Amino acid sequence: SRSIDLAVIPGDGIGQEVVAQGLKVLSAVLPQDVKLETRKYDLGARRWHATGETLPDAELESLKGHDAILLGAIGDPSVPSGVLERGLLLKLRFAFDHFINLRPSKLFPNTASPLAGRPDIDFVVVREGTEGPYVGNGGSLRTGTPAEVATEVSLNTAYGVERVVRDAYERAQARPRKKLTLVHKNNVLVHAGHLWKRIFDAVGQEYPEVTTDYLHVDAATIFFVTQPERFDVIVTDNLFGDILTDLAAAVTGGIGLAASGNINPTGEFPSMFEPVHGSAPDIAGQGKADPTATVLSVALLLRHLGYAEEAARIEEAVAADLAERDGTPRTTDAIGDALAARVSG
Ligand code: IPM
Ligand code: MN
Repeated sequence: SRSIDLAVIPGDGIGQEVVAQGLKVLSAVLPQDVKLETRKYDLGARRWHATGETLPDAELESLKGHDAILLGAIGDPSVPSGVLERGLLLKLRFAFDHFINLRPSKLFPNTASPLAGRPDIDFVVVREGTEGPYVGNGGSLRTGTPAEVATEVSLNTAYGVERVVRDAYERAQARPRKKLTLVHKNNVLVHAGHLWKRIFDAVGQEYPEVTTDYLHVDAATIFFVTQPERFDVIVTDNLFGDILTDLAAAVTGGIGLAASGNINPTGEFPSMFEPVHGSAPDIAGQGKADPTATVLSVALLLRHLGYAEEAARIEEAVAADLAERDGTPRTTDAIGDALAARVSG
């Protein structure tokens, strides 16, 4: 019989609340014969305050054994900036070689998007997940003095660029519009930018059906707002992808709806699914957070594990729920209940 062995890292702030709803909907959507096992990992600000640990080796090892990871949010104002982000979230992405950071954007009906009423917006950003300026390759000299110098050197390897570009072509090829846009800044970042462009063009030879386009990242931000329908699949580096996907979320209905998957397509390590939003400490514990982004991340998780039909059911439930929203505030729990009820029939 089928089974899913899921690691759950609720993390900080609203992470706890939204993950509970994600699990609720997951249980509701799975057929009877699928055995769902979950194990919670207590990682994040609380753990760091209590023990000084961010992600102990034993836990990293144990996480490896699961089929997938569901993560809520990481980060808290009581912890110095970067400690949990680097020591936990990025450590997981790097250790599990999550080189695909998949971030779909759809303009759902009836959302508070500034683009509401525009032609259908449906694109996916394939953000590189293991390289770029995120690798921590830098340092500072004469720290704290007027003569301080700080560097943050972006790492781009042919190997790393080719594998994410190839994955993006595959995704573009599988979609009806078959269009792939590379976003970079190769008029200024000439070393990395030219590497990306050369590999993008070379791999493109193998995908003659895919239409390609190139945009500098600054121009891309304009088109995200003025002409978002021109995008189908976008491939870009780790930092550009980080920034673009917050913008994408904001223009397609809000960060409360944006889902993501940190994927290792080889299956060597478990992939990890999380809402794009953060821990929102200002509203934590109040039942105000919208769990929809986490629920949609559960759909990505299911699709990754081969449960395409269940994933689609969740996405339909979300679309139906959003369509009926009339601005009346609902609690985190109430939204989770409504979605769970919809997916179970
Ligand atoms: C995201 C977040 C992270 C990132 C932070 C919290 C490290 O902003 O998932 O987009 O920059 O990747
Ligand atoms: Mn981000």
